[in-house]
Amino acid sequence: MTAIPPEDRAQDVLAPPAMAAIFLTLTVRPGGEDAVREALSGLAGLTRAIGFRVPEAQLSCVVGVGARLWDRMYDAPRPVRLHTFEPVVGAQHTAVSTPGDLLFHVRATRQDLCFELCYQVMRGLDGSVDAVDEVHGFRYWDERDLLGFVDGTESPTSRVAAAAAGFVGDEDPYYVGGSYVIVQKYLHDLAAWDKLSVEEQELAVGRRKLSDIELPDGVKPPNSHVAATTIVDPDGTERQILRHNMPFGNVAAGEFGTYFIGYAADPAVIEHMLQRMFIGEPPGNTDRILDFSTAVTGSLFFVPPADFLEDPDTVVAAASSRGLATANNDTMPSDGSLGIGSLRRSNG
Ligand code: HEM
Repeated sequence: MTAIPPEDRAQDVLAPPAMAAIFLTLTVRPGGEDAVREALSGLAGLTRAIGFRVPEAQLSCVVGVGARLWDRMYDAPRPVRLHTFEPVVGAQHTAVSTPGDLLFHVRATRQDLCFELCYQVMRGLDGSVDAVDEVHGFRYWDERDLLGFVDGTESPTSRVAAAAAGFVGDEDPYYVGGSYVIVQKYLHDLAAWDKLSVEEQELAVGRRKLSDIELPDGVKPPNSHVAATTIVDPDGTERQILRHNMPFGNVAAGEFGTYFIGYAADPAVIEHMLQRMFIGEPPGNTDRILDFSTAVTGSLFFVPPADFLEDPDTVVAAASSRGLATANNDTMPSDGSLGIGSLRRSNG
């Protein structure tokens, strides 16, 4: 039997670049777990009901579940790399950790469909959740962020590269096709940024502003954003993540921001980038764009495969029986179980 490629089990993480997005972060009230699990199993249907009427708008929704909620809500084992987001504290900059049990990443070519989906999600969850953050992102001209630079160029686009960077494989057999997502809401000090010359801004980012071409190695400073976020393994392989950042803002309030959202097969890759940005390698070599950008939120979620979201019990039962059927190594206990103990984890 041919194995299903991880990306074919995934939620709509690989949706095309959107013109509009809503990032909705919720916490779940004690006692709300059953209602939430039920709502999540119907989320794909709800998205179809709204999106089918305007197919060209390409409405999509990805939902992520935080570590604390996972243990309260699912009997299934916790995904092996799921944990709460640890703040990254450097001498000058801090990547804060803020509450979040659920993240909805809603995208479309039009904001009205994103809005309608979030509205219906919140109606369905009324009384079970509290909203902690809602950001409406928009596509800015030329794919630029509000610092004026083209954002997203080096995020992998081919299906093969994106799937390798973004999706869990056989290392966690229950959750092949799942993904980890880290989000951070950044606010920019545009008044200070605009005081820099274009050349100084280019040295901060590591790319040319107008042409978006990367600065050559001898010119690109080690504290540029591109240098800080480029991680190369000892064998020369570059570690990649999937980024779907969106600008957001409120002119009257003087609020100008970038909503960072990065998906990865292993959250440690994004966490390593954050350490390089906020602490620096070597310490002190911090990302220059942090002198003009402050992270005001930060959370980590697991994005379950679509089939798990819809019917967790069936997927776990199928994974267990597959594991038993192929158990032929010495790590499997002799009692024929998967050796994972009870499927329900204790909180922690
Ligand atoms: C590259 C903007 C936060 C990871 C870039 C680029 C821009 C940018 C303009 C260059 C073009 C591109 O390849 O996309 C921003 C802004 C941020 C932000 C405005 C928030 C204020 C982050 C964070 C991470 C990150 C928090 C990871 C933890 C990356 C990576 C690249 C990149 C991996 C590609 C580097 C390369 O291989 O060339 N970002 N970014 N970014 N950023 Fe960010």
